[in-house]
Amino acid sequence: MPAINTNGEVDCFKAELSLSDFKTFSDYIYSEFGIKMPEIKRIMLQGRLLKRIRELKMTSYSEYKNYFFSPEGQKNELYNFLSVITTNKTDFFREPVHFDFLSKEVLPQFVAKGGRNIKIWSAACSSGEELYTISIVLNEFIERNPQLSFSLLGTDISSNVLDKAVHGVYGEKSIEGIPLMLKKKYFLKSKDRKKAMVRVTPQLQKNISLKYLNLMDAVYDITEKYDVIFCRNVLIYFDRETQEKVINKLCRHLADGGYLFIGHSESMANMSVPLTNIQPTIFKKI
Ligand SMILES: C[S@@+](CC[C@H](N)C(=O)[O-])C[C@H]1O[C@@H](n2cnc3c(N)ncnc32)[C@H](O)[C@@H]1O
Repeated sequence: MPAINTNGEVDCFKAELSLSDFKTFSDYIYSEFGIKMPEIKRIMLQGRLLKRIRELKMTSYSEYKNYFFSPEGQKNELYNFLSVITTNKTDFFREPVHFDFLSKEVLPQFVAKGGRNIKIWSAACSSGEELYTISIVLNEFIERNPQLSFSLLGTDISSNVLDKAVHGVYGEKSIEGIPLMLKKKYFLKSKDRKKAMVRVTPQLQKNISLKYLNLMDAVYDITEKYDVIFCRNVLIYFDRETQEKVINKLCRHLADGGYLFIGHSESMANMSVPLTNIQPTIFKKI
């Protein structure tokens, strides 16, 4: 049995995630969350789960597996598990074409049709950078078009990133690429200058709600229809069949004539979905 060090951590942890335990986890991850986890990712999963094993002061992967699949584990460990298995890379103004299109095409069209309150959903929003970028675009547009208001929804399966999104606190580095004028307007520097952190302004957080939503759920716990849905850089983790199902479910919550944005490395070629392609990665509901 490995030794426990003075911090209560498992020291010199030599155990491996066995192929059969990996398979149990990867089958579960795929069936419940749609995330493909081929054998090549075994070492990656092993590394990610180690963090939880240490925190729980367990001594092996099989102990963690038995706990995770027990009724107690399913109740208490699921959110932590999701936080370690998901890849949450994101950025402010990531794939800027979509924000340009939102500001120059979608919002003017919406206002021209007499729209008053635009509803936008960032599905798989990660730690909130995508959501706050949308909020910046909307706030800037509303300065020139004060008749418009908005509501924004962000959803994800990782409670860690949802927490971060709720707080809206980021490293200063993460806003380096944002124009100075927007930085000054929408971000507050930490009072403790050693911290190099910024917080989004309360203005940017207005009209935003965040919640857990698994895109694999048969039915989404959403009652509204959205005018725009961002579902970017998450489809890539699903296989094609799952992608098609997810997009069709999203379309049920997209208003007629509404727009769907997907990530630049994602594709919907030859899928049977009620959308027309406007330009690469931008689709309109027909
Ligand atoms: C790479 S991030 C993309 C974030 C953001 N949309 C962007 O493009 O910058 C992918 C996010 O998808 C989330 N995710 C993975 N599987 C999911 C699922 N089945 N349902 C909802 N969110 C999921 C992850 O937790 C992660 O935060």
